Amino acid sequence: MWSILNVMPEHKFIVCSYSHNLSSGIVSWQSPSNIALVKYWGKYGEQMPMNPSISFTLNNCNTKTSVSFTKKSSEGFEFEVFLDGKREVSFDPKIRKFFERIETYLPFLKEFKFKIETSNSFPHSSGIASSASGMSALALCLMDMERQMQSSITEDYFKEKASFLARLGSGSACRSLEGPLIVWGEHIEIDGSSNLFGIKYPFQVHKNFQHYQDTILLVDKGEKQVSSTLGHDLMLDHPFAEQRFRQAKENLSKLIPVFKNGILSEFIRIVESEALSLHAMMMTSMPYFILMKPNTLEIINRIWKFREEKGSNVCFTLDAGANVHVLYPKSEKKTVSKFIEKELLQFCKNGEFIVDEVGLEAFKI
Ligand code: DP6
Repeated sequence: MWSILNVMPEHKFIVCSYSHNLSSGIVSWQSPSNIALVKYWGKYGEQMPMNPSISFTLNNCNTKTSVSFTKKSSEGFEFEVFLDGKREVSFDPKIRKFFERIETYLPFLKEFKFKIETSNSFPHSSGIASSASGMSALALCLMDMERQMQSSITEDYFKEKASFLARLGSGSACRSLEGPLIVWGEHIEIDGSSNLFGIKYPFQVHKNFQHYQDTILLVDKGEKQVSSTLGHDLMLDHPFAEQRFRQAKENLSKLIPVFKNGILSEFIRIVESEALSLHAMMMTSMPYFILMKPNTLEIINRIWKFREEKGSNVCFTLDAGANVHVLYPKSEKKTVSKFIEKELLQFCKNGEFIVDEVGLEAFKI
């Protein structure tokens, strides 16, 4: 048993003892959201992805989290979560599950009482998932505590373990610690890629992708009918699962030369195909479901028409919902913003949208 444990890669994140004691304090971190270009959809074991994914880190969509901690003598986990200053009991089960999953790696969790205060830069009801940026910020706060108890921790270990922990909270959260492009999941052509944590995309990226724009059109702001977690589970005996996982790997392979040469027509083909494949998986699982709305399709068709007529490089991607991420190079900001305003905003709920662009890493506040 000992030798098996020793060779398991996650073993390096298990700590046996700390050199310093902590009694109370507060730590705060801000983490960015991310939008996947090659999608993670399907997982196994403890939050391991069935295929590698890659995402742009966002600049304006983020979560700020403060964790206040006080040493306690009682048993079990003790925490309270506040969203925008208000106690939010609906988050408790997710945080409890997260603590249970990560306790092996952060053995001090039961020794403290936590007050977790969190707020998002985007509206809670916007349909934008806050779990990626939220779990990343929380993981970083907890790692900050660990670093205070073990000052020998290196920067690389800190980031890797924080991403590893964030993944155990929500898979895509492990891609929400650094920027601008993060890979999660083993890929034969990407050295250092891992199913356990996200890494910075290690190859050359053409200047066409610098400050790439993402305008998020809020088509439907309600609660999701089907959670991502359930959707992932439906990939386990999905009739097209194997082909889908292979397709994702191939699409990531195809993106490597595209990131280098900056050919946007190729980028668009891959990114839009990924978005539609993700939703095709939802429509062909059992039970099947559809998260796109009529306005999602209207927007997609308008984007295609505009691209054809104007020779633009605007394209779209989708996450697990009806909202549309409109992606375009910074050089087209003026023309595409006009197009969005004139033609696309009419399809958003209450005309709401978020202007964002590719951003960088999480930081301590
Ligand atoms: C469609 O990371 O939200 O956004 O691991 O169950 O928390 P859990 O799922 P989650 O799934 C995200 C799915 C996606 C695609 C992606 O971000 O890669």
